Amino acid sequence: MNPEISLAVIGGTGLYKLAALAAVETLEGETIYGKPSGPLRIGTIAGHRVAFLARHGEGHSLPPHKINYRANLQRLKDIGVRRVLAINAVGGIGDRFGPRVVACPDQIIDYTWGRISTLGEEPGSEVLHVDFGDPYTASLRRSILDAAARVGTDVVDGGCYGATQGPRLETRAEIARMRRDGCDLVGMTGMPEAGLARELGLDYACLALIANWAAGCGDAAEITLEEVLANVEVASASLPRLIAAMLG
Ligand code: HPA
Repeated sequence: MNPEISLAVIGGTGLYKLAALAAVETLEGETIYGKPSGPLRIGTIAGHRVAFLARHGEGHSLPPHKINYRANLQRLKDIGVRRVLAINAVGGIGDRFGPRVVACPDQIIDYTWGRISTLGEEPGSEVLHVDFGDPYTASLRRSILDAAARVGTDVVDGGCYGATQGPRLETRAEIARMRRDGCDLVGMTGMPEAGLARELGLDYACLALIANWAAGCGDAAEITLEEVLANVEVASASLPRLIAAMLG
């Protein structure tokens, strides 16, 4: 077995552990930016070492704006991770992005505010202006999409992820504006995570699990947590095979 960690998976709402991970060890630890959301669970999938981190904490105790995104990514980097697969529960805006669909977005619009969004704001640190024209790593997106094709899982190739502040869901007017802006998906945790990964030089891509129609996009009068969790569970069913195929 290769002792190097081939991939890290950051799980979002509804994904607090990776069922496919065998022989799991737990790694606690801190970083120069403080504590990550929880321990790293390191195990094997298809003979490769994989690290898993629950973004909101394993008991979902951290709201999106309180997550220490810098510590999460720095912790992964500190243990030698180079590739990060971010799993995010999202709402669907565009017609191709209905509940239970899985998508691999290729663009981001950031509507979040007040989050620490760079490594370069510590006293004495260098100001960073990383290129972010293509916010997700092309080779990692390719590897996800190729793996999905090999195992026969439908993953929509592309889409624009709009990152909102939360923790409340959006108004219909906010979603209508996001649609006009070109967003296909809406979630609360896509940023600053992707930008920080770029600053750290990590390969980073997102698999978005569509949990509900965003406000005003479907027929539902209201979005419920039950609906979100049930759809995330269905959408995540293909993840073990997909991740194994990415590694194989
Ligand atoms: N909006 C924002 N974040 C989300 C949603 C949504 O509708 N569904 C799941 N995460």
